[in-house]
Amino acid sequence: MKRIVVQRAAPKDAYDIDDLLRTCFAQPAEAMLVKQLAMDGDLVLALIARDEASDAIAGLVALSKMHVAIGGDPAPAVALAPLAVMPDYRRSGVAAALVTAAIEQMRDAGALLMFVLGEPGYYGRFGFSSESAEGFDSPYAGPYFMALELQGGLPCGPRGLADHAPAFAALAETDP
Ligand SMILES: CC(C)(COP(=O)(O)OP(=O)(O)OC[C@H]1O[C@@H](n2cnc3c(N)ncnc32)[C@H](O)[C@@H]1OP(=O)(O)O)[C@@H](O)C(=O)NCCC(=O)NCCS
Repeated sequence: MKRIVVQRAAPKDAYDIDDLLRTCFAQPAEAMLVKQLAMDGDLVLALIARDEASDAIAGLVALSKMHVAIGGDPAPAVALAPLAVMPDYRRSGVAAALVTAAIEQMRDAGALLMFVLGEPGYYGRFGFSSESAEGFDSPYAGPYFMALELQGGLPCGPRGLADHAPAFAALAETDP
């Protein structure tokens, strides 16, 4: 079994991350999203899974800033996207290791919520649910729009905006 270590991405990893995202997704939109998030200063955390033997990058998860309001007050929140693992490394828990590490780091950093747009069957195993995202005002609202409450609860008050970083608007335009 390949030995993988999860670590923060460094500037020198940018080319390999771009390559990974262009390999894992049919469109270049996700690669462009990560670049734009970084350029806009909206990338909060990028974790990579590195193959200890070959030094190759096997996977990536990115977390970006969101503007979220609860009861009229801002609530610290991030969006998880994209998540990608190179085909040769799939089905051995690499994505799970990346998501788990991202959750731990964002929880320790004090974020209240982590949002994701994806398959409930996959993200549900980490505790994401559409119920936790319900009531937030987002163009992505629906069964695939999920959230994870990182600190065990949310402040009282009506759920307001849940705005992704501006770079996501371009992704919505390019995705079918
Ligand atoms: C989705 C992806 C990140 C999973 O990576 P991985 O390292 O193989 O994931 P893990 O090993 O942690 O988990 C594998 C499990 O996830 C399940 N899974 C993978 N994609 C899934 C999906 N779209 N819906 C539901 N389950 C899914 C697999 O069936 C497998 O299930 P099992 O544990 O019951 O066998 C990888 O397949 C990938 O990069 N896909 C292309 C990019 C993509 O679609 N990213 C997600 C959206 S941003």
